[in-house]
Amino acid sequence: MHKQPGLATANTTVFRLLRLLGILALVALAACDSKPPPGVADSRSPAKPAQVDAARVANADSEPGNWLVHGRTYDEQRYSPLNQINRDNVSRLGLAWEAPMDSRRGLEATPIVVDGIIYTTSTWSRVRALDARTGELLWEHDPGVDRAWGKKLCCDVVNRGVAVWQGKVFVGTLDGYLVALNAADGKPLWRVDTLVDRDRFYSITGAPRVVKDKVIIGNGGAEFEVRGYISAYNVDSGELDWRFFTVPGSASGPFEHPELEQAATTWSPDSNWQGGGGTAWDSMAYDPELDLLYVGTGNGGPWSHYARSPGGGDNLYLASILALRPDSGRLAWHYQTTPGDSWDYTATQHMILADLEIEGRLRKVLLQAPKNGFFYVLDRGNGELISAEKYVFANWASHVDLDSGRPVLTGLADYSEQAKYVFPSAAGGHNWQPMSYSPATGLVYIPAREAGWVHNEAGDKWFEFGVDNLEELAGDQDIPPTRGYLKAWDPVAQKLVWQKETANIWNGGALATAGGLVFHGTATGHLYALHDQSGEVLLELPIGTGMIAPPISYAIDGRQYIAVMAGWGGPAFNTLGGDEALLDFDNAGRLLVFELDGAPVPLPPPVPPRGPIPPQPELATDAATLERGRLLYVYNCGGCHGMYGSTPMLPDLRRMTLEKHALFQDIVLGGLLENAGMSSFADTLSEAETEAIQAYIVSLANASRDE
Ligand code: HEC
Repeated sequence: MHKQPGLATANTTVFRLLRLLGILALVALAACDSKPPPGVADSRSPAKPAQVDAARVANADSEPGNWLVHGRTYDEQRYSPLNQINRDNVSRLGLAWEAPMDSRRGLEATPIVVDGIIYTTSTWSRVRALDARTGELLWEHDPGVDRAWGKKLCCDVVNRGVAVWQGKVFVGTLDGYLVALNAADGKPLWRVDTLVDRDRFYSITGAPRVVKDKVIIGNGGAEFEVRGYISAYNVDSGELDWRFFTVPGSASGPFEHPELEQAATTWSPDSNWQGGGGTAWDSMAYDPELDLLYVGTGNGGPWSHYARSPGGGDNLYLASILALRPDSGRLAWHYQTTPGDSWDYTATQHMILADLEIEGRLRKVLLQAPKNGFFYVLDRGNGELISAEKYVFANWASHVDLDSGRPVLTGLADYSEQAKYVFPSAAGGHNWQPMSYSPATGLVYIPAREAGWVHNEAGDKWFEFGVDNLEELAGDQDIPPTRGYLKAWDPVAQKLVWQKETANIWNGGALATAGGLVFHGTATGHLYALHDQSGEVLLELPIGTGMIAPPISYAIDGRQYIAVMAGWGGPAFNTLGGDEALLDFDNAGRLLVFELDGAPVPLPPPVPPRGPIPPQPELATDAATLERGRLLYVYNCGGCHGMYGSTPMLPDLRRMTLEKHALFQDIVLGGLLENAGMSSFADTLSEAETEAIQAYIVSLANASRDE
């Protein structure tokens, strides 16, 4: 097996940073429109826009022309009942309109559509309202996130969208505020600081959810060893209603709520109590009948269980699905997918609620494909495990024991003594990119990936790329090639029905529709429509912009649209292929809206040929300084700039001219480009350290030129 770039060896120190998350290595004209889609209300231009409430969400299927909440419905199935665009005519899909998003970095939002208006977010938590027929910008709100906050993020300046409720639009900002805007004009109504500590590396990238009279929000930062929690605020006043910490703050309390007392018994007393992790940075779902709010929690911080909780223990409530009472914030049940997580196996991945017939019984289930590689079917009333099977190659556990509900570890992932090549990677068999469940096919469509990661507690280096002994680490395991997939999964039979392969591992979310289709955008800049039962490609539309966001569908005046935020980003992966497309075109973010018989999609401006790597400065240096520079680079810079000095999203540091090099200290320590998102590192790096980093970048540039 050949050497793969971008594979990481990590020990505890590294986890603080990550940024590394990313680093892994990584890739007919049919008959004309038959009838208007069902339930499509005529366009309304409401004087009071965004009047979403519990009754409307509960009856969302009666107005399929709207996309009222994050997953369209509280059960987060992300299935559109619209069928005007279908298998017979999807090949006629073209552009209705596009709207620029003033961004060259990752766009992850699910747009919300209410009565002819789209509410979405761009980078830096900026909110936009647009006319859903024309794309005309109605208003914009920039919460003014301090660009220096950029270095507090593991995985790009992204945002996954707003919640809309009773005339208000809610957004969580990168720097930890929850903001309520007036849906009519985008003016702030209230703004609260959700952070328990502004000095720690907390951030919000997830979409808020509204349940009853509360807006619920979590945060990210487990890579930086923060302590995770979920907060509920009153929709009208912004007052804090309850807060649920996902991990205890110490062995002996004080325990902010009773659940933490139980949780503390699963941490060793000599645990690293600096943070713990367990951040709830993305997924939630709500069952109004059971009145349970489901929240997924993240990995441990630091990643290594051996360092975090040296005496062992499950470390509740890391990597868990929590069922909370929305009125009180009390825990009804929990299910921990990865007890004692050491591999960044978050359970923050998308959860879908569905009613499935399993062994002759209709079960109310919760479906999740967390990072750890197992597809879980749980009874969502009590958290009982019904089944769990591997949806990707996973070597850390052989299976999940149905009696105990616990994974059975293989030992292949224990990196306390030596480096281990662990599958899935820290990017997960599935990450935040939403799945979709079609009640018509009974299948779940998972944006998945096959990839591994080298973990090493004992490593004497923080981080390593191009691990030389992968073959040795792999042993006789049958390791799959590193690839991205869209997998159609039967949750009852727990088996794969079909899959479509993609070169790049970091692609878009999924949307299934009543038109018999699954829509999926890829890093390569293609929008696909696939036959939902067979996976046959019915549309492959080149749009030139890599996608990571999930498509949605809506309809106005009897016309169905497909919409997706296009703009590639996230952690600065060193992709293992498929990234050529990302380098061909400007990564100019845009909201693309498609319709039948639309226009050709304009490709973004091509990136001019990069030319040879320019002459580099001659810096006096030595091997030790270069190695120091490498480690500092990996720790401080690689998460944004890519571990080899380049990523499709940011300037290629290997191509800096002598003039740029002359400004290096001004940029890195002086904050010269801070407004453009390049934080000053004056509080973390010395001049000598910055010089060492510069020397390392020069060595990378010279090595690349010689290749
Ligand atoms: C949080 C993300 C982030 C991190 C971490 C980061 N940078 Fe940057 N950096 C940026 C962005 C964004 C730009 C582009 C600014 C612009 O558009 O001009 C940039 C630009 C630069 C440039 C200018 C390059 C050029 O050709 O214009 C240099 C030099 C640079 N970064 C060095 C570093 C170094 C060294 C580190 C680590 C100490 C680092 N950066 C860490 C985001 C980051």
